[in-house]
Amino acid sequence: GTHVWQTLSGEPPLVIAHRGANGELPEHTIEAYTLAIEQGADIIEPDLVLTSDGVFVVRHDRYLADSTDVADHPEFADRRRVEGGRDDWWVDDFTLAEIRTLRARQVRPGRPTEFDGLYLIPTFEEVLDLAAAHGVATEPEVKSPSQFIAAGLDPLPELVRILRLRGLDTADASIAVQCFEPDFLARLNGEIDTPLLMLVFQMQELEPDLDPLIPTVALEDMIAFADGVGPYKALLVDGEGNDTGFIARAHALGLPVHPWTFRDDDPVGDGADIETELRRIYDLGADAVFTDFPATAVRVRDAM
Ligand code: G3P
Ligand code: CA
Repeated sequence: GTHVWQTLSGEPPLVIAHRGANGELPEHTIEAYTLAIEQGADIIEPDLVLTSDGVFVVRHDRYLADSTDVADHPEFADRRRVEGGRDDWWVDDFTLAEIRTLRARQVRPGRPTEFDGLYLIPTFEEVLDLAAAHGVATEPEVKSPSQFIAAGLDPLPELVRILRLRGLDTADASIAVQCFEPDFLARLNGEIDTPLLMLVFQMQELEPDLDPLIPTVALEDMIAFADGVGPYKALLVDGEGNDTGFIARAHALGLPVHPWTFRDDDPVGDGADIETELRRIYDLGADAVFTDFPATAVRVRDAM
């Protein structure tokens, strides 16, 4: 096409299948990632948590009741416990073999549930195998490293082992590791050259009332250890649908911008629908988008 893209590379923005094509199939399953790849996603996103025997499996949460059928397994009834005010089953109380007996469920209300109970919980390495077989990149997110460290399971050595084993420890590898915790990314930066993406939900300069429980890091500070930034989409577009200047500031520092999450039931700012929202963020120069609907994001991009 003739479109002039405002991305850092000048290339069209990339489509990241957020948790797979999870608008259609249960998230974080091989089936959801495979559908996303068929729909033209450039990148697939596994969120990573650790089993009690130290294996990365792909789940958004440490707790299991929302995204699996664990509650239907009488053999795990006594495994349930309260942590942080939540009464649930916790992935780091289960071995990989036990996790394999569970099946995935649709999490988000209003989405198809007819595939619930059919699909396995994959390991990170299986997702990397799938991506390699199809020539797509991955953007794994290490979930809550400080919580796993507190539970005696540091995700860092296992992550570094896997990345080195697969030659994904270089700056030009087709992967970027994301995390909300700057300390974890800074440690990782000391070990490997893999591209790192700093996730941000809030920024001091945009929001006077910050949640003290969520880490914040300024763009100017993250360049010491991160190679890109993954902001909540509301940091890019204000309540009237106008550019906040975030992308230009990040680009001036050499940081590509991968905002999240574009889906059919999650408008921010002026409440635009997903297609309008995508077109606008592409126009502003987003380098990649996390979306639950990769087919939509590919179609909107390719029509520009
Ligand atoms: O990793 C980007 C985005 O996925 C962050 O939000 O909660 O969907 O992991 P979450
Ligand atoms: Ca994520």
